[in-house]
Amino acid sequence: DLPGRVDIWEVGARDGLQNEQAVVPVEVKVEFLARLADAGLTTLEATSFVHPKWVPQLADAAEVLAALSPVDGVRYPVLVPNEKGLDRALEAGVRHIAVFGSATETFAQRNLNRSLDEQFPMFEPVVTRAVAEGVDVRAYVSMCWGDPWEGPVQPTQVAAVGARLMAMGCSQLSLGDTIGVATPGHVEAVLRAVAEAGVPIGSVAVHFHDTYGQALSNTLTALRQGVTTVDSSAGGLGGCPYAESATGNLATEDLVWMLDGLGIDTGVNLDKLADTSAWMAERLGRPSPSRVVRALRG
Ligand code: HMG
Ligand code: MG
Repeated sequence: DLPGRVDIWEVGARDGLQNEQAVVPVEVKVEFLARLADAGLTTLEATSFVHPKWVPQLADAAEVLAALSPVDGVRYPVLVPNEKGLDRALEAGVRHIAVFGSATETFAQRNLNRSLDEQFPMFEPVVTRAVAEGVDVRAYVSMCWGDPWEGPVQPTQVAAVGARLMAMGCSQLSLGDTIGVATPGHVEAVLRAVAEAGVPIGSVAVHFHDTYGQALSNTLTALRQGVTTVDSSAGGLGGCPYAESATGNLATEDLVWMLDGLGIDTGVNLDKLADTSAWMAERLGRPSPSRVVRALRG
């Protein structure tokens, strides 16, 4: 059975841009967010309050939030790794944040400068304080289907990390295939393990990168298992600066094309979205990797 509606969590302005070498001007980021809202997307992950030396592209987080004109009915979540990041986010007026854990030891070290176990005490006060302030918290887990240094990851390990973050008070768990190695059977296994660890499938989101062209098949598999929130990036922008071999996210256009075909409502205007990605591709100086953007705007 498939859902009647899918909520798209658009990560283009954050996951999409964080890996870009040339710093994208604040005005371009703000226009990108405005165009995405105009295309009907209602969750726009806007930026990250991480250490500016770690992700220079998003050092302008506060400026971007100050410069954008928030649209009614649109939320603008941001990534927050620690209490310093939370202080900065709250000062900027943020109401939705996401912490981002790792399912593997190596990626915890490389992405967070913490061991797998040390990540939890870093996130716990962030989640507790945010929830106390009425701020909604999503939990990401990265490397849920494979890690470039450690290889395959046990589904029970992913489930244990995810359940521990959810127990802190997060409202949603986004399972990340950071390097895009998942295939549908493996997606089923991880979702089953997460459900067995006590996380309701209705609070699970999937976050696929399209490195091996499997992101849509994986998404359809997840929808059949009851997932109704899918992360994607306009034009298929993206990658993680701290993950070897990570390429772009599932393109929002590819996702919307499939969901439109299935008669599943997203509220997104594909035409406006493709125009936005074509516009962004010009700003970045290279074509969008999305097949649908190329087919529509080639
Ligand atoms: P650290 O160096 O261990 O930090 O970095 P620290 O706690 O030791 O602090 C060192 C200094 O940094 C201190 O300054 C802090 O104040 C400052 P000092 O006292 O020395 O002058 N500092 C900060 N400044 C600004 N904002 C902050 C902040 N925190 C500390 N938030 C840290 C630890 C977690 C901060 C660092 O490792 C970091 O920023 N990592 C982020 C990496 C990142 O953003 N990766 C990409 C996002 S994850 C992803 O893409 C995957 C995802 O898409 C899902 C998927 O695909 O799997 C979500
Ligand atoms: Mg990602």
